[in-house]
Amino acid sequence: MIRERYPTLVEDSSQANSAVLILDQTRLPREAVMRRLASLEDAAHAIRVMQVRGAPLIGATAAYGVALGLRDDESDARLAQAIEELSVTRPTAVNLHWALARMRRALQGAALATRREQAWQEARAIAAEDRAANAAIGQHGLSLIAALHADLRSGIACPPAPLFGKGGRERPAEGEPKSYPPSPLSGKGGDDVRQAAPGVVNVMTHCNAGRLATVEHGTALAPVYAAHAAGLPVHVWVSETRPRNQGLLTAWELAEVGVPHTLIVDNAAGLLLMRGMVDLVLVGADRIAANGDVANKVGTYLKALAARAHGVPFYVAAPLSTIDHSCASGAAIPIEERAAEELDAGDVAVSNPAFDLTPAALISGIISERGIAGAGELKQWVP
Ligand code: MRU
Repeated sequence: MIRERYPTLVEDSSQANSAVLILDQTRLPREAVMRRLASLEDAAHAIRVMQVRGAPLIGATAAYGVALGLRDDESDARLAQAIEELSVTRPTAVNLHWALARMRRALQGAALATRREQAWQEARAIAAEDRAANAAIGQHGLSLIAALHADLRSGIACPPAPLFGKGGRERPAEGEPKSYPPSPLSGKGGDDVRQAAPGVVNVMTHCNAGRLATVEHGTALAPVYAAHAAGLPVHVWVSETRPRNQGLLTAWELAEVGVPHTLIVDNAAGLLLMRGMVDLVLVGADRIAANGDVANKVGTYLKALAARAHGVPFYVAAPLSTIDHSCASGAAIPIEERAAEELDAGDVAVSNPAFDLTPAALISGIISERGIAGAGELKQWVP
């Protein structure tokens, strides 16, 4: 069944520079509802309550929020107030602060008479750049999936990795056996898994870093879409991602284009990695520190640890706007604590951090619109 494709964020074409329409993600996957944002307050609310979510989409929505804020008053005071009101909606996703700083730079020197028009133009440019960056991420990440597919097709089995240390997808050294016994821990892994689905690249992801988290294409899912479009067989293990279940958003959008996927509870990831049923872990990011530490949805760190334990490559996909070069390491990244009610646990003490930190040492590489770099090599991407 061909489903109507709802844009995540689009300008209201019924009246220029008047409003934007968003796909309300609090109603997905049950129903697709487009919501009209016509004021600064609408935009700030949509970010705060996660009608829009995902670092790049939060940034683009905030940029349009500034333009909406200048609707009746283009003064410096109003500009400052709009930026301030949006900047406190969510703390971790650096794209929010990146977009607001860019809007401030673009508008503070602008003549009042043209400031509103310039605000819409700048927000529009931010949205267009997000589309282009994610499309490029898709192509760079495609090379990873294609290489894995080629390995799998040529029967290069994945050696069961020791509990910790090197292993996984490395090519067997000269003289090393070309096929492997099952993992001593799980009795699985080795090359028996491959018989099941020769050549299919099993990608594991966490949260939603797909088109729903961006203006278009997604980040972590962009290589998956590029591979699917190129006819490469991919299958995605989709983590539910408690407590807001962004995994259901990921399943919804993968179904939209027919990418095979399987939903798992978050805690099942370790077993799948141990059993050699995952070839690649691909996640997004909310903020990447200068040293390569990554903040992403809570639960990402546990996947990175398990991936390392079982020698499975762990990549982070994110546009350059998600790299915070002013942030020396993960320790300096503010982690959002969200409401206890999200756990729906009744009268019990709750801690609900929305993000966690994955040290650069556990990351095989970072995929941006500029290519793929080691987590510790981000200086080359300093603007
Ligand atoms: O709380 P959310 O849903 O906004 O968290 C989103 C994530 O953690 C994403 O992985 C990240 O923002 C990257 S989106 C391309």
